[in-house]
Amino acid sequence: MASETITLLSKREIDKMRQAGRLAAQLLDHLAPMVKPGVSTLEINDEAERWTQAKGAKSAPLGYHGFPKSICTSINEVVCHGIPNSNMILKDGDIINIDVTPILDGYHGDTSKTFFVGTPSPKAKKLVEITQECLMRGIAEVKPGARIGDIGAAIQACAEPEGFSVVRDFVGHGINRTFHTAPQVPHYGKRGKGKKLREGMVFTIEPMINEGTWEAIVLDDGWTAITKDRKLSAQFEHTIAVTADGVEILTLPE
Ligand code: MF3
Ligand code: CO
Ligand code: CO
Repeated sequence: MASETITLLSKREIDKMRQAGRLAAQLLDHLAPMVKPGVSTLEINDEAERWTQAKGAKSAPLGYHGFPKSICTSINEVVCHGIPNSNMILKDGDIINIDVTPILDGYHGDTSKTFFVGTPSPKAKKLVEITQECLMRGIAEVKPGARIGDIGAAIQACAEPEGFSVVRDFVGHGINRTFHTAPQVPHYGKRGKGKKLREGMVFTIEPMINEGTWEAIVLDDGWTAITKDRKLSAQFEHTIAVTADGVEILTLPE
């Protein structure tokens, strides 16, 4: 199947991905100060769209398989793909993942972070800190010759001893001029299993880590995924490239 072919990007193409990735990271930094009690997720969306256009870029999520907004905003028990809405107002103690994907000169930069609204509860703080650690442990596995399964195994080893669970239903993905392509990058797995990584592969790692069960359900809007037990879920995402001797994070602000 053609979709199983993993594209290897040239140095020039990776430079384009780096420019898109940098813009994505800068967009998250730009939105961060808006994350305060009383702000609606639509306000954050609208500022993201405005800023993206001002940079000469486009918002990949807008219209993607019918997604109605420019970014995803996922609060508390929302695992991913939360739709910005004027009725959804941030309140003290919430956690919110903001996931952005600008397209710059044809190339996608995909990154997300979970932010605290005001003061987090100790359990929310722990979940968010561990989730970020999971992303970095997954990234640390990446180098030519490593296997896709090494990434998920490292993430599970980071999350599960803390009593947290790893979401199964949503995975990282190859990304280039196409938003979602091969390979699939599960955030669970077995060391030594899965496809071998090669220089020039570019994909996301985006673990969603839950306080309770890993099971998710999708709401009637067709997008919003929430935890089955309504407990908290956090997520962090970077777009990365496999380099000759390891890994480069493409979604850093500079
Ligand atoms: N940015 C998300 C990801 O990490 C995808 C969002 S697709 C949308 O893959 F349609 F929900 F926006
Ligand atoms: Co994303
Ligand atoms: Co992604």
